[in-house]
Amino acid sequence: MSARDPSDLVPGETSTGSKRSDVLFGAEPGPRRMTRSAGCRVWDDEGREYVDLGMALGAVALGYAHPTVTAAAERAVRDGGVGTLPPVLELHLAERLLPWVPGGEAVRFLKTGAEAVAAAVRLARVVTGRERVLTCGYHGWLDWCQVTAGVPEVVRGLRRPMRFNDRADLAAAVAEGAAPAAIVLEPVVEGPPDPGWLRAARDAATQVGAVLIFDEIKTGIRFGPGGAAARYGVHPDLVVLGKGLGNGFPIAAVVGPRAVLAAATQTWISSTLATETVALAAAEAVLEVCESTEALAHLRAAGDRLFAGCQTLARRWPGLVTGIGGVPEFSFLRFADDACSARVAAAAAARGVLIRRGPYNFPSAAHAPALIDETLDRLAAAFAEVAC
Ligand SMILES: Cc1ncc(COP(=O)(O)O)c(C=O)c1O
Repeated sequence: MSARDPSDLVPGETSTGSKRSDVLFGAEPGPRRMTRSAGCRVWDDEGREYVDLGMALGAVALGYAHPTVTAAAERAVRDGGVGTLPPVLELHLAERLLPWVPGGEAVRFLKTGAEAVAAAVRLARVVTGRERVLTCGYHGWLDWCQVTAGVPEVVRGLRRPMRFNDRADLAAAVAEGAAPAAIVLEPVVEGPPDPGWLRAARDAATQVGAVLIFDEIKTGIRFGPGGAAARYGVHPDLVVLGKGLGNGFPIAAVVGPRAVLAAATQTWISSTLATETVALAAAEAVLEVCESTEALAHLRAAGDRLFAGCQTLARRWPGLVTGIGGVPEFSFLRFADDACSARVAAAAAARGVLIRRGPYNFPSAAHAPALIDETLDRLAAAFAEVAC
């Protein structure tokens, strides 16, 4: 390993902000970098093994290096991966993916979640001829939805963030300013949606002629066919998928009615590697595994077990944890404060468990019930150490 400070080589320590050591462990010592992963385990650069509850920020739902997904990706690598012509695989994956999205008739593929939500918003702006967008949740790092250094005031002014599950705020956001092009929301923000709020968003979008976009980058695939739209019984115009779709390979998708997706031909949404075949093949294999095995049932069972176990931890250490957030498929402990969460995360890592101290931990199909129980025991030991 180089003696140079990692932040000199990669400013900010790493290119994925949510993997920074201060995010993971605060000022506490903890493992810094990994060398490989398999199933639900990760190995650090000193060879230590961890049970991973974070699962690459939810990018992996079936388990790391899933054999079927890996085999499909390897085949695609051997077959060249890219070419000047668009690949046949793009159409195969499109056909296979559409039944996973209620009302899905057409799809465009991209590489990252942020890109795909930005593409959905672009489509909405083309279709409506409007500019303003209402949002709720996290939609990636790009300018259109960020309030951070370097984002022009004029861009910020086009977006009105809304509070989750707050119908009054939704109504106010719709009423103020110009009619919106889109209402973009995450169906789960630190907890399940109030179905009345989702329905109100649907009704408002229909009433004012805006495109309703569900950002299902966390819920999609993980929740099973139909995603959050099917689970909560409210159907958006566009659905955005990412993370679990590729099981760690870079792919995201915008899915919806042909009439809306067709707007892609009236604007410019294109990326050199949007059609590379390794991620397309991986995604096709993901859908195949989900359709032909009990993988998603295992994921849900692991999630239920982890959620219940975390509730027990919260009851046992009320001074450290004030509650649980999320849903069984992705949840988190609400720690009393930042220092306490950092100490628990570091103590858990010392016991071979990687736990994120904020939203979210993402159980996977690879977390067997007995392993969840053992992991909860190790977490209990970490809590006991921090509590004394
Ligand atoms: C709901 C949601 N939308 C968008 C994104 C951005 O996706 P990506 O980080 O792949 O660009 C994320 C990432 O965490 C997300 O959770």
